[in-house]
Amino acid sequence: MRDYSVKLSIIKMLSDGEFVSGSDIGDSLGMSRAAVSKHVKSLNDWGLDIYSVQGKGYKLSEPFTMLDESELEKRVNVPVTLIPVIDSTNQYLLDRVEQLESGSVCLAEYQEKGRGRRGRDWISPFGSNLYMSMYWRLDAGMAAAMGLSLIVGVAIVEALEKLGAEGIKLKWPNDLYYNDKKLAGILVEMSGQAGGAAHLVIGMGLNISMPEGIEGITQPWVSLKEVCKTLPDRNILASELVNAWDKALEEYELYGMKGFVERWNRYDNFKERPARLIMGKREIEGIIKGIDEQGAVLIETENGVEAFIGGEISLRG
Ligand code: ATP
Ligand code: BTN
Repeated sequence: MRDYSVKLSIIKMLSDGEFVSGSDIGDSLGMSRAAVSKHVKSLNDWGLDIYSVQGKGYKLSEPFTMLDESELEKRVNVPVTLIPVIDSTNQYLLDRVEQLESGSVCLAEYQEKGRGRRGRDWISPFGSNLYMSMYWRLDAGMAAAMGLSLIVGVAIVEALEKLGAEGIKLKWPNDLYYNDKKLAGILVEMSGQAGGAAHLVIGMGLNISMPEGIEGITQPWVSLKEVCKTLPDRNILASELVNAWDKALEEYELYGMKGFVERWNRYDNFKERPARLIMGKREIEGIIKGIDEQGAVLIETENGVEAFIGGEISLRG
């Protein structure tokens, strides 16, 4: 893994949103102002918006609280690894399922290769969002995996509501929406099967305060700062989500989808609205009727209410 300690120290010095001069940064890190300037330039590639004013120094356009592994560890009961700069938190856990305890979590501040469903990019600028994954060993095997993005979605909305958010909705099978814009995405991936149990990694990218000018997102999106009057502290938010996932996954292992169907349907962004299901070349139009106990999406067409399930289906409003 590459050593990013200098860049991370600079970010830490700037994270409270105050001006810090190039020479102060240089002095504390034992380097020239020119070297500081070079590092700051490359931080913009990580999606940080740092500008400079002559005579004052550098400033982050939006302050933020950095994630802190020891703060997280105090608040959760599962093993936590924080790797500030990573390719993908899902990949990190997938590569280590043999060594990990079920429930282990990986978080990052920046993902170089964050991904969504079907290999799409997940845009992951430094510090402005949450990128979090959990490894779960599902003894019920692969067949039960389809429900995971649904129950984790419910757990996230409920946890965000407890922290003061209102109006967040779910889009089948893996998205959180607010005002018809994407707030978060969930990605469930598998790493083989051993003796019937499935090794699953559940990842979430949740936008908290994403810079407006960010490039590369091909659909309307929104950040939590537009949902909550006061944004929760990032370490508290991450810990609450870890605890909510852990609880939901345990409940799912014991009782299956039963306890989640009604909860999911309460938050359905498309309930009773017209939508299309896209399955390769096939498209079905109808009125969305929520989900069933298998985790399938229900759509009413002229043939009546039909259930659809599978990883290759996209729903469009
Ligand atoms: P579906 O899975 O139903 O086809 P989708 O279009 O949301 O829905 P996903 O694979 O779930 O597709 O999500 C990946 C998409 O999310 C990318 O194509 C990109 O447009 C968008 N995206 C990437 N990063 C972000 C982000 N940080 N916030 C919101 N949307 C993002
Ligand atoms: C989607 O909407 O398609 C799902 C997006 C999932 C993004 C998260 S960010 C943390 C984890 N690591 C990844 O590479 N992807 C997931």
